[in-house]
Amino acid sequence: MAVRTIGRMVDYVKSNRKIRFVLASAVVLLLLGIVCAIFFGAWVRMFIDHELVLRPGSMTFEWWARPPVRPFVRVYVYNVTNADEFLNNGSKPILDELGPYVYSEEWEKVNITDNENGTLSFHYKRTYTFQPDMSKGMDDDVVVVPNIPMLSATSQSKHAARFLRLAMASIMDILKIKPFVAVSVGQLLWGYEDPLLKLAKDVVPKEQKLPYEEFGLFYGKNGTSPDIVTMFTGATAMTDYGIISRYNMRDKLQHWTTDECNSIAGSDGSIFPPHISKNDTLAVYDKDLCRLLPLKFLEEVESVGIQGFRFTPPEDVFSNDEHNRCFCPAGPPCAPNGLFNVSLCQYDSPIMLSFPHFYLADPSLREKVEGISPPVPEEHRLFIDVQPEMGIAMRARARIQINLAVSQVVDIKQVANFPDIVFPILWFEEGIDELPQQVTSLLRLATQVPPVARAALGWGLSALGILLILLAVTCLIRSSHRQSTLRLEGHVVAKPPPAKTPSKENGYELNSRR
Ligand SMILES: *[C@@H]1O[C@H](CO)[C@@H](O)[C@H](O)[C@H]1NC(C)=O
Ligand SMILES: *[C@@H]1O[C@H](CO)[C@@H](O)[C@H](O)[C@H]1NC(C)=O
Ligand SMILES: *[C@@H]1O[C@H](CO)[C@@H](O)[C@H](O)[C@H]1NC(C)=O
Ligand SMILES: *[C@@H]1O[C@H](CO)[C@@H](O)[C@H](O)[C@H]1NC(C)=O
Ligand SMILES: *[C@@H]1O[C@H](CO)[C@@H](O)[C@H](O)[C@H]1NC(C)=O
Ligand SMILES: *[C@@H]1O[C@H](CO)[C@@H](O)[C@H](O)[C@H]1NC(C)=O
Ligand SMILES: *[C@@H]1O[C@H](CO)[C@@H](O)[C@H](O)[C@H]1NC(C)=O
Repeated sequence: MAVRTIGRMVDYVKSNRKIRFVLASAVVLLLLGIVCAIFFGAWVRMFIDHELVLRPGSMTFEWWARPPVRPFVRVYVYNVTNADEFLNNGSKPILDELGPYVYSEEWEKVNITDNENGTLSFHYKRTYTFQPDMSKGMDDDVVVVPNIPMLSATSQSKHAARFLRLAMASIMDILKIKPFVAVSVGQLLWGYEDPLLKLAKDVVPKEQKLPYEEFGLFYGKNGTSPDIVTMFTGATAMTDYGIISRYNMRDKLQHWTTDECNSIAGSDGSIFPPHISKNDTLAVYDKDLCRLLPLKFLEEVESVGIQGFRFTPPEDVFSNDEHNRCFCPAGPPCAPNGLFNVSLCQYDSPIMLSFPHFYLADPSLREKVEGISPPVPEEHRLFIDVQPEMGIAMRARARIQINLAVSQVVDIKQVANFPDIVFPILWFEEGIDELPQQVTSLLRLATQVPPVARAALGWGLSALGILLILLAVTCLIRSSHRQSTLRLEGHVVAKPPPAKTPSKENGYELNSRR
């Protein structure tokens, strides 16, 4: 009986175009639903990638060229309060951490050239403005800090001929150069005229000349940088998106011993290749850091309703073990654990970078001075929060401490008592707190809509398909039931009636019969 019913239903389906149409639509919808559920993620990725590519005129390009963010740099200066006792009595230097001195920044990329091969070339333009209301102190506060040009010169003369050191001592005597200088915070950062650099500019042979006669730790950073940066736009491969291809026409550094350590193939910290997973290692290149800084996943974070991944340098990033040997071409001995020797990028001055308060560095470095509290990861760690799907930095703190590695030189009387020490000068954090409303609402849209849309489309289409199938089956059962009734009445009908009344009103049925 059941077999006959099914057989009749099949006959009915074969003969009735309307039911055939409904069943076919149902199957198509069901398949569409499944296809959506499976491939929607890939479509969203393709769409995001397409939108992210830095094409002149696109919205991402505008945001990249003139980021609508309010970056800032907060500077903390270590004021030396016992310079005389330190030099005359051999006491530990006592430091007083002052600040923050806050500068707001405006970022821009200028003279952007499209190289037509998936790269753009440009110059960075950064404008800094002091923000007295956000700062603790004014940028004309006078601080006492080591005389970096002088101590660089004396430390470098350590291996020179003795008469040169003696000559240096008399020049410094005449020019009244002292191992500590009292300068304002603004001068320390943006530059002050240094007698030694001025002299060097006049007497030193041209090819060894320092490019400046002013000294400042951020000297020349306010304004358009002379460096030409070439960056991948993502047009050729999204894995290169935002990665620096060349810096001043060079595709790698010259200072280190291996190609890997000389690489500059990193992001500038604002955009990263999208679709970041927790296993990825991000890389940031900064000219002053003189190397790529690797960043690893630390934790998940949330900011204004957007999920992000926090990336931070691994703990051994500045360690003095085997994997950092390539950064020590003159060694061993190499820089102590937790310090990075950037002297080759700083005209041979013995500048060492570390994290603030010697975070992740040998604790003995901090104990050589007084007045630096033990490092706290939350306050002194460098991190970048990225939105993993789009690779956009949502929040960042680039925290670096600048130290001077002084070598004792007994022949120069001014510094004869200045012992071998890694002298902290200042630390700063540069970063963005949050993205502007327009960007965050787009990010929220991009991260929250796809999963919802995928569920809605996938489930919605499948459900509609199933509903139609159910409907068709109900129709069939009802019509086969009617046929059985007809047969019972003795009229054996080979073919079921063409259609019921309502379907005659249906345009499809009428048309298809023509
Ligand atoms: C820095 O220290 C010196 C003493 O060495 C002091 O005279 C000066 O006022 C200090 N600067 C600030 C801003 O506290
Ligand atoms: C140096 O130390 C001696 C004793 O150790 C002390 O009498 C003197 O006052 C100190 N000088 C300074 C400038 O602190
Ligand atoms: C940018 O381009 C303009 C005109 O093309 C030129 O005058 C200017 O010097 C360029 N600036 C830099 C920093 O190259
Ligand atoms: C793209 O073109 C620029 C300018 O012609 C060139 O400097 C750069 O090396 C090229 N980059 C690649 C990846 O081909
Ligand atoms: C940076 O340069 C701008 C103008 O080019 C100037 O107004 C501003 O005061 C400078 N900032 C600092 C900190 O010197
Ligand atoms: C990440 O690494 C872990 C352990 O190495 C591995 O089990 C996991 O499959 C990796 N995940 C991805 C997405 O590669
Ligand atoms: C820092 O690097 C320079 C250049 O390689 C080297 O001469 C100097 O000795 C290094 N300093 C330390 C403390 O390793």
